[in-house]
Formats: sequence, C-alpha cells, structure tokens
Amino acid sequence: MQKPQWRVVWITGASTGIGAALALALARRGCGVAISARSAPDLGDLACQAQGLRGELWPYPLDVTDAAACSATLDRIEAEHGAVELAILNAGTHRALTPETFEVAAFEALMQLNYMGVVNAAVPLLARMRSVGGGQLAITASVAGYRGLPTASGYGASKAALINFAEALKLDLADTGIVVSLINPGFVRTPLTDRNRFSMPFLLEPEDAAARIIRGLQRHRFEIAFPWRFVLGLKLFRLLPYWLYFPLVRRITRA
Ligand SMILES: NC(=O)c1ccc[n+]([C@@H]2O[C@H](COP(=O)([O-])OP(=O)(O)OC[C@H]3O[C@@H](n4cnc5c(N)ncnc54)[C@H](OP(=O)(O)O)[C@@H]3O)[C@@H](O)[C@H]2O)c1
Repeated sequence: MQKPQWRVVWITGASTGIGAALALALARRGCGVAISARSAPDLGDLACQAQGLRGELWPYPLDVTDAAACSATLDRIEAEHGAVELAILNAGTHRALTPETFEVAAFEALMQLNYMGVVNAAVPLLARMRSVGGGQLAITASVAGYRGLPTASGYGASKAALINFAEALKLDLADTGIVVSLINPGFVRTPLTDRNRFSMPFLLEPEDAAARIIRGLQRHRFEIAFPWRFVLGLKLFRLLPYWLYFPLVRRITRA
C-alpha cells in the first residue's frame, strides 16, 4: 500500500465545513490527522466517522484565540504522534458588518479569531519546523481578502491580513525547507455560508473544496484559489482603478 505523503497533519477549525472535509479526505489517504476546534463532541463525532479509513483522526479540542493553548496543543500532538509535517490553519468565522451597527468588539473578535488564531498556531509551528528543517504550513484566507467588499470591513480585513502574512512568510522562509501555502476559497457550502441570504456564485461542496486544496498542497502551490472562474474575475477586479472598481462592485452586489 502506498505511504501517505504526510504522516502527521494538524488542522484547526476541523470540526465542520472545509476543515472536516479535509480531515476525512486526508484520513482516507492514510494520514494521521490531529483535529482541533472548540467543540470536543463535534471532534469526537468526526473521529468516529473516520473509523475504518486508512488513516486516523485524533481530537485535540482547542480555542485558537488562546496563544498558550495553541503552543501546548502542538506540544501534545508532537509528543503523542511525532512531528507535524503539514499544518492547515483554517479556523475562522464570518460576520457581516454594516456601519449602522458597527461595534469595536465585532472587529476585534474577527481579528482575534481569523488573524491572531492563525498567528498563535503558526509561531510555535514554525519554530518546530525550523528545528527539524522542513514542513508544510497552509493558511486559509479567502478571496474576500483581495479587495474591500460591502459588509466585509471586518471579515475582509482579517483575510487581507492573512494574505499579506502568508506572502511575507513565503519570502522569509524561502531557504528553510518550509513550504508555505495560501488557501483562498470562493463560496463553499458550510455552516458558515448557510447563514448567507444572497445567491452565492459557483458554490462548491466542501468535499470538492477539500480535493482541490489537497491537490494544491501535494504540488506545493503557493496560492490555492478556487473555483478558477470566480477567482479570475476577482483578480481582474484587483487590477481596476478605484473610479471603475467602486461603481462596478456597487452595481453587481445590488443586483
Ligand atoms: N465557506 C466558505 O465559503 C469560505 C470561503 C472562503 C474562506 N473560508 C474560510 O474557511 C475556513 C473554514 O470555514 P468553513 O466555511 O468551513 O466554516 P465552518 O464550517 O463554520 O468551520 C469553522 C471551524 O472553525 C472552528 N472554530 C471557530 N472558532 C474557533 C476557535 N476560537 N478556536 C478553534 N476553532 C474555532 C469551528 O468549530 P468550533 O465552533 O467548534 O470551534 C469550525 O470547526 C474559515 O477560515 C473561513 O473564513 C470559507
């Protein structure tokens, strides 16, 4: 039987949605996957679903906004299973914010989870990966981080920060043997997008998203962005001058 590409993987935000689909897909390929999220029962249920697959899921409940807990969880995973060869820092949430209801606390919560939640795990992970001379680190941001979008002043800003963080890491870690990937999904059907009341173009199922992400990680791609037609459109928007960008986005998002 073929050996899995990664013996030990760590996924945060693994209890539902994209993270859960990734965990099951990797277990099917024979990987051992440490799964983290806050809900221990959800992680336990997911680990049961993986029974009978080639690999295993190991629950490690964790709140990624707690930096000390991230570091301690990594210590436990490595003590119990060995060095993490691939980490997918994926925990995150979305909240639409409108100026009529702005609260500082809402911006702070999005930044603490979406941005600092990644940093809290990435810092100890990178120290470990540097000490063993390699590893793969993937960060889930979003195409919503490419440019400012309506109601996304909190979410989009946290994802833009992640995109910048991943780009800088890619440069800083170029000679270390550590491979950095940036995952920028379009719309994927998960509990996070189930709350959306607008039509979501090119909506993908989480299993499809997971397969695309794993393919990109196997190829050591820096940006893993999908679906390509949606991504291409948004990347072209990135090139537009403001005088064209703002009226166009207003027209499209009002339609
Ligand atoms: N779905 C999309 O269309 C889409 C598009 C672009 C980017 N993304 C990004 O993809 C990632 C996964 O999203 P999803 O759509 O799969 O959403 P989801 O189903 O809501 O999954 C979010 C995961 O994060 C965990 N989580 C939330 N707060 C946490 C915390 N403080 N500490 C640890 N884990 C926490 C949740 O579990 P607990 O609540 O039990 O902690 C859950 O496992 C997010 O970063 C999201 O921004 C999603």
